[in-house]
Amino acid sequence: MAPAAGAQGVEAGDEWIKVRRKGRRIKSHHPVLPPSNTSNSGPKQRPSSLSVSDVEREHRHIRDQWRASTGCRRLRDVVASCDCGSAITDAICFGLGSFDPEDGSWENKRRAHIQLSAFLYMVEQLQCDKRVPIRCLFQEPIFNSVDEAFIRSLGYEVVYSPNGFEQVSTSTLVFGIHLYRDIYAHALANNLPAVFVGTPREVWEECRASDIPDWDRLKELDDRCDKVEFPEDSGYTTFSSTVIHWRRQSGT
Ligand SMILES: C[S@@+](CC[C@H](N)C(=O)[O-])C[C@H]1O[C@@H](n2cnc3c(N)ncnc32)[C@H](O)[C@@H]1O
Repeated sequence: MAPAAGAQGVEAGDEWIKVRRKGRRIKSHHPVLPPSNTSNSGPKQRPSSLSVSDVEREHRHIRDQWRASTGCRRLRDVVASCDCGSAITDAICFGLGSFDPEDGSWENKRRAHIQLSAFLYMVEQLQCDKRVPIRCLFQEPIFNSVDEAFIRSLGYEVVYSPNGFEQVSTSTLVFGIHLYRDIYAHALANNLPAVFVGTPREVWEECRASDIPDWDRLKELDDRCDKVEFPEDSGYTTFSSTVIHWRRQSGT
């Protein structure tokens, strides 16, 4: 799905195209524009080559490596330094990918595990000593039955598109890495979330994607948030072109 680490470009349909940057280069690339499945009614029955315990074992291994990394430490510092203000009540992870990708790609599988680890780590940090647990939801049309069972085994909910979009409120953490623009647009359509982790405005601008009907919402997000680059996963493109947006509490 993504080219080798360090490549410069963005995905347009099935192609990767080069992007010229006006200023500082953002290290990598991200997917843009292809139509996504924003509406699906239920689980796909794509067979899995893994059992839930296989996925659990792989997840523990990859998560533990990432938790010992500089990227994880930096994420902890970033979250600690951000005044989130209003409490986060729920967190929705969009488009994680499968833990057992159809093409068997180890890189895609690893990326899904690392992005899940980072999402849950952010939730853990934001949870702090709040009494009511932050509710976690996952929406990913390519999840197979084992992916879903794994997420549920961790105690979280899987929802089917477009239900996740409808759950986004002003106290939600929205987390979606390298998603297509229309998925972001759907996620932001009803409310601007308290925290949004995803592709920033400057990247869309550089793709000349600003002449689109849903652009105003992405611009509003950019205007109303403080931003910090997502700490990189050293040697990989797991969080390339990804920014944490914290909505300012003043509403300005
Ligand atoms: C370019 S991939 C990114 C996958 C992964 N996050 C990564 O960084 O490689 C976009 C993902 O969005 C998912 N997707 C498509 N429609 C969606 C929807 N309506 N809701 C949530 N995810 C969706 C796709 O299945 C796909 O896994």
